[in-house]
Amino acid sequence: MGVWAIASADRIAGGNKPSRIPVSGSETHANREGKMSDTDEITARAETGVSRRGLLKCMSWAGTGVLWSLSGGVPKTLGLIGDAAAATNQLTFVQISDSHIGFHLPANPNPAATLGKAIGKIKGMTAQPAFLVHTGDVSHTSKQEQWDTADQIIGGAGKQVFHIPGEHDVADVDNGKAYLARYGKGTKGRGWYSFDVAGVHFVGLVNVYGFLPGFKPSGLAQLGNDQLEWLEKDLAHRSASTPIVVMAHVPLWTVYEKWGWGTVDAGQAFSYLKRFGSVTVLNGHIHQIFQKVEGNITFHTARSTAFPLTPPGPEPHFSPLKVAAGELGQYLGIRTVDFVRRSGMPALTDAPLAA
Ligand SMILES: [Fe+2]
Ligand SMILES: [Fe+2]
Repeated sequence: MGVWAIASADRIAGGNKPSRIPVSGSETHANREGKMSDTDEITARAETGVSRRGLLKCMSWAGTGVLWSLSGGVPKTLGLIGDAAAATNQLTFVQISDSHIGFHLPANPNPAATLGKAIGKIKGMTAQPAFLVHTGDVSHTSKQEQWDTADQIIGGAGKQVFHIPGEHDVADVDNGKAYLARYGKGTKGRGWYSFDVAGVHFVGLVNVYGFLPGFKPSGLAQLGNDQLEWLEKDLAHRSASTPIVVMAHVPLWTVYEKWGWGTVDAGQAFSYLKRFGSVTVLNGHIHQIFQKVEGNITFHTARSTAFPLTPPGPEPHFSPLKVAAGELGQYLGIRTVDFVRRSGMPALTDAPLAA
């Protein structure tokens, strides 16, 4: 059974924050390919079929930093962030996303400052991460000076950073050449790659080519045959017990087709991934947290460090969401991923910058 939900207490707390709570526990709404039509999505909001009260109870903790354990397809809370530090972790890393250095509209005139707060939060972590992953849109318009600024700020964490591109990072005249020259050394094709740390296999996928001018989606994102063939070979000889972490900028499951928030050929990738016992998919691009569980594959979109985007709705396009003064930090954040010893499933902690 597919389950998807916004895991953001910010959406629940009331006030002038967004109050729509998309929840579906039905294959009718989230079909087996993970696709959801516009109509289904809106219907799902109305029905909120899966223990909405229980979900809200869980989500009410998320804004204060709950340790989520995703085991057997059912998310459950293990405790607060402070408890996580006491656990014996096999591997801890942090996901940041959508820094958009160079953005200057009212939704956040200073994304460098909020990125700095995100890095400060990482530096203050009791259990330091082994490395960072950045799931794309480091820059807003693919300018070297924007990447320079981002690298300088992110470098303050003193950690290795694994990048994948967002569509805003491949907006140079050569459609990605500048990004690949800077961040893509040693990668395959147009920037995909894999690596292993502490027995966990990481795969960085690229699905940000094919956008129209002005960063408008031309439809759902695409991985393409070359990348899919590489992925099949990359996974073919690995043990099914190897925990897998997949990073891609645009969600690999269809969050909202109308706005291009999905990947048309992701099903082919899932066919290679489904035999593994633990697959965690980390996405960016939509600047808000959604989760979905499909068997042993869990999907998580991330908050931005720059600005929130509008939640799925009837508007023809998504857009930066201007929130009330002083509340921006509640809509931005970082994600910590802990692989705990004796468990192949990671625990994910989403912490807003404001906390
Ligand atoms: Fe973005
Ligand atoms: Fe993006």
